[in-house]
Amino acid sequence: MNQTDVILNNLIESVKYIQDKISEVPKTAVVLGSGLGLFADKIEDKVVIPYAEIPHFFGTTVKGHKGQFVCGKIDGTPVIAMQGRIHRYEGHEQYEVVHPVRTLAKLGVENIILTNASGGINEAYKPGELVIIEDHINLTGNNPLLGPNIEEFGPRFPDMSETYNKEIITFIKKAAKDLGTDIKTGIYAGVLGPTYETPAEVRMLKTVGGDMVGMSTVPEAIAANHMGVKLGGISCITNMAAGIEKGKLSHDDIKDQANKAMEFFVNLLTKTVGYLNS
Ligand code: HPA
Repeated sequence: MNQTDVILNNLIESVKYIQDKISEVPKTAVVLGSGLGLFADKIEDKVVIPYAEIPHFFGTTVKGHKGQFVCGKIDGTPVIAMQGRIHRYEGHEQYEVVHPVRTLAKLGVENIILTNASGGINEAYKPGELVIIEDHINLTGNNPLLGPNIEEFGPRFPDMSETYNKEIITFIKKAAKDLGTDIKTGIYAGVLGPTYETPAEVRMLKTVGGDMVGMSTVPEAIAANHMGVKLGGISCITNMAAGIEKGKLSHDDIKDQANKAMEFFVNLLTKTVGYLNS
């Protein structure tokens, strides 16, 4: 089998496995990043599907990522959450990293909200703040669409002029207003990791227009956009990127900051999912 057939066959098997476990496919999915998994714990009437059970899925190796789909209702609205994701830096191929979002797209989900933890480059941000991803810069040195184009997914040269859907951005802003606060927007610079950046790299990222930097989201956004899914993005600024403030970066501190933002994050996402279903 060639690579395209492998990708397509794997997808059919993953989709079938999930379809057999859930009674309806929600309109909206959310991908929960490092330390942001609590949203999934608030889902009611839930069906939990560990990635390890699903054909062609990988468990995650990153602390703070559980590795399961949680499908049910949040505040009465159907939703499916990916509690944890895999990354290229864990040693996975690009097509493996984007397999879960392709599975969601193939299941029939219309909207995906990608969330992540990131380092703040823009000095107007503070650790613990949530920022809407307005656009991204792919600095991973890779692209999940390399190789023969899979016509069934989308065109060879996909348009990326509105990768993060404007209407979804408006809904997230409206949800923040409902919760009594404004929310900033920013450009997510996506890098490969797993090292955090050097201060010199952060200065470069600032020069090229990045407001925040992280190691996920970009491959998923490219693959989901290719398949015509509408995307939203929310980033939790868990730390200021290297060199912006004094001190060293650690994954444990980053998870602590994500925890502090948790209540607002859960409420913001819940309201946004509600708007997307209305
Ligand atoms: N850099 C890259 N990825 C990150 C960071 C960072 O500073 N913080 C959380 N994820």
